[in-house]
Amino acid sequence: MLAKDRWGRGLMPEAVRAVLAFCFERCSLDAVTVGHFAGNRQSERVIEKCGFRLVRQEEYFARQLQKKIPGLKYILLREDFQRDPGEGAAPDRQKGSSRGETHQRQNIFNHIGGNEMEQNKRPENMARINTAALAEAFIAEQVEAVRKQVGDKKVLLALSGGVDSSVVAALLIRAIGKNLVCVHVNHGLLRKGEPEQVIEVFRHQMDANLIYVDAVDRFLDKLAGVADPEQKRKIIGAEFIRVFEEEARKQEGIEFLAQGTIYPDILESGPVKAHHNVGGLPEDLKFELVEPLKFLFKDEVRVVGKTLGLPDGMVYRQPFPGPGLGVRCLGAITRDRLECVRESDAILREEFAKNGLEGKVWQYFTVVPDFKSVGVKDNKRCFEYPVILRAVNTVDAMTATVEDVPFPLLQHITDRITKEVPGVNRVLYDLTPKPCGTIEWE
Ligand code: XMP
Repeated sequence: MLAKDRWGRGLMPEAVRAVLAFCFERCSLDAVTVGHFAGNRQSERVIEKCGFRLVRQEEYFARQLQKKIPGLKYILLREDFQRDPGEGAAPDRQKGSSRGETHQRQNIFNHIGGNEMEQNKRPENMARINTAALAEAFIAEQVEAVRKQVGDKKVLLALSGGVDSSVVAALLIRAIGKNLVCVHVNHGLLRKGEPEQVIEVFRHQMDANLIYVDAVDRFLDKLAGVADPEQKRKIIGAEFIRVFEEEARKQEGIEFLAQGTIYPDILESGPVKAHHNVGGLPEDLKFELVEPLKFLFKDEVRVVGKTLGLPDGMVYRQPFPGPGLGVRCLGAITRDRLECVRESDAILREEFAKNGLEGKVWQYFTVVPDFKSVGVKDNKRCFEYPVILRAVNTVDAMTATVEDVPFPLLQHITDRITKEVPGVNRVLYDLTPKPCGTIEWE
């Protein structure tokens, strides 16, 4: 994929982002080579502002080997790229475009061709797994592959209770039984009933070797007083790694780390393994990866999960952000508001299930802001929090429309939340599509 002369300059950042997103995601490219890059700071800034990283080819390959850069998309500068002397100086267009020609139609696949690309490419003849029979065949194949890979060694898995990690757990339990060590970290930001469900399904029904870590206080203490959403995300991510690392160190003889990597993770992150869910573990904790779902799309993961006997509530659950309810308890998280989010979310889910909206609406949840308003309860003035309901439909989460929830149902949910959730005296429905509102509030 190649860009033309003066590429990036004069284009709106949105257009640049759209072109690059198309290259990276729709065409599954791993890096974009810029044949002639205009070569001034202005263009570079536009590209970097769009969240992409400019690197020279040598740097890209060096880093690719190190497999160290999480989440980056690359814009490769041609080898002979020279930044203009002086900021913002006009590029030498004549020279640029003729050189650009030589790189035109150059695709990064020409450059890569390494093993890792092949190892991470879904086989072209692989049938879409959409029946129980196909899922059984896949499971049998993976059970054998996992047994061959790990032998009688132990495998560690961070089991969040999400679809991907749950399906990996069920598959590995079938393959290696108690040699799979599942670690479920309860960070206090899970939905109502989720930690209990993980324990019930994996420890009691599947007889898994499950370590349950109650890290609620630890996370909430770290998050106390932190209002910035990105800071909150960072703290949750970093603390998760710390807790998981501590558990990993307590275990003897673990050589493998299982992950619920699925094919879209690979497509989105390119050949650099940036999709590691537990990426960030220290260097001295080196594990070989076990990623049995890495060629599956989400719908296939669900079919496999169902075939493995996981409950529908786990297999068909709606997307849930890694930082969990932490980004729905707006601003600095407090325990009382976190409970308002959790309880109101449980009511919303229950009502959607009862009224045929579960499985129909893509994502729905509640949000609690960090301000109060005046209300009246039991003939007394009260000063309490509002709950915001959000229910959206989307295909790829890049854009979303608002679900037209029947008004009587909204009224019923409002009635239940204001009566059943302590500290809440108002309910609002978010009518904003994406854009301009993102799906989450933080
Ligand atoms: P936005 O809010 O960006 O969300 O419109 C799009 C989708 O991404 C989910 N989301 C996250 N998922 N970690 C995640 O794993 C996050 O920090 C995060 N933030 C948003 C969101 O729930 C929606 O499905």
